[in-house]
Amino acid sequence: MEPVRIGILGLGTVGGGTVALLRRNAESLRRRLGRPLEVTRVAVQDPDKPRPADLSGIDLTTDAEGVCTDPDIDIVVELVGGVDNAEPLVRAALGHGKPVVTANKALLAERGNELFRFAGEKGVDLAFEAAVAGGIPIIKALREGLAGNRIQSVHAIANGTANYILSRMRTQGLEFEEALAEAQDLGYAEADPTFDVDGIDAAHKLALVAAVAFGTPINYDALHMEGIRAVTGEDIQFAAEMGYRIKLLAITRPAVDDGVEIRVHPALVPESAMLAGVEGVFNAVEVVGDAVGPTLYYGPGAGAEPTASAVVGDLVDVARTLGAPPEYRVPYLGFHAEGMREPRWAPIEEVETEYYLRLQAKDQPGVLAQVTRILAEEGISIEAIRQKEPLPGEEDVPVVLLTHTTRERAIRKALAAIDRLDVITGPSQMIRLEEVGTG
Ligand SMILES: NC(=O)c1ccc[n+]([C@@H]2O[C@H](COP(=O)([O-])OP(=O)(O)OC[C@H]3O[C@@H](n4cnc5c(N)ncnc54)[C@H](OP(=O)(O)O)[C@@H]3O)[C@@H](O)[C@H]2O)c1
Repeated sequence: MEPVRIGILGLGTVGGGTVALLRRNAESLRRRLGRPLEVTRVAVQDPDKPRPADLSGIDLTTDAEGVCTDPDIDIVVELVGGVDNAEPLVRAALGHGKPVVTANKALLAERGNELFRFAGEKGVDLAFEAAVAGGIPIIKALREGLAGNRIQSVHAIANGTANYILSRMRTQGLEFEEALAEAQDLGYAEADPTFDVDGIDAAHKLALVAAVAFGTPINYDALHMEGIRAVTGEDIQFAAEMGYRIKLLAITRPAVDDGVEIRVHPALVPESAMLAGVEGVFNAVEVVGDAVGPTLYYGPGAGAEPTASAVVGDLVDVARTLGAPPEYRVPYLGFHAEGMREPRWAPIEEVETEYYLRLQAKDQPGVLAQVTRILAEEGISIEAIRQKEPLPGEEDVPVVLLTHTTRERAIRKALAAIDRLDVITGPSQMIRLEEVGTG
């Protein structure tokens, strides 16, 4: 059988892994597909850079656009990353009738709606399993395996770097900056860690997951996003004393009035929760469906071959339906175009959950009474409250509270009033508590 000819843009971590995997598993892929998958051209920026991958028989070029328009290429794989530089390449390939496989979450979170529309007009696939949670096939699970369900919630640990930092803060008693420096030394975090620690990378992935879970357009701007910089060693320790771990979670679930919540932030999860046991650079996604109940998907969220595993999975899918009419293919986001709905994206103030609060108070009588009075005025009931010992060399005492379920609007109002009290000496900490499945 004629080989399926593949052009790859980018030969970095994921591109290199993809070339290596396609070569190593060429025979089993041919058996699955009935045709060989053959990389014929690869575009890079610097042709003189040493490449660990075996490039024999491959045309190495700096002309990425030429690969996208080459009539002898059947499928283009975009692995250059970035938004402004990748978009024209993806458009060029789609515009020339070539399906595209990409790992680029930033591109799809920001420009996905237009790109999927364009791919639809051209009648070709735009596949993106590798863009979400690396090697975990969560897009396929949500789009196909769970299609019989109405999705009730998705809670994901979707950024390995942030999860590594929080894990090290807990197990080694490190502060955020120390754990970040360690992650940078080990190559888990970039010199500029913004995307990972401020929640942007997890938010890009969540924007795609929400669309696939609920049949909505991708709406990155609707997302509420907080990173992990403000989580302290004290928070992690106090949470542990109360039986919780702190994770950076990407969450989407239906809200009242046909709304959808979409938010990335640190969250307390019970230490018995399956997600609590996900440590280090691993990712996990918990999906609850109305029929199936809770399901958990766990695995490496990044890295050369784990991400290549998702890229190659997409290549097999796309190659199987090359040239087939669109109605014979799975829609990009899993919903028929006429079934897609823009929901009401629920603002964060509407979220109802439990809350962990840490206040910094003067060590004097009456503090707890003033704080509890304000919470009561907002209708917030307290599950637990503890006044801690002052930290060595400090006069202030931390006061830690867990609330019962309440609306975020009420918590924000109460905290603003608490922070104005004379007995409160610094800004208060608030971390949401999430109900997730326990093992
Ligand atoms: N790394 C991961 O574990 C991971 C996991 C999931 C998803 N992703 C996504 O996968 C994509 C690629 O990530 P990566 O980590 O593999 O990136 P990377 O290691 O930085 O590699 C980027 C590659 O693109 C090439 N390149 C950049 N601009 C180009 C252009 N205009 N024309 C031709 N080649 C160009 C570079 O060429 P030179 O080699 O010549 O510099 C390099 O080979 C990103 O969208 C990323 O978000 C990565």
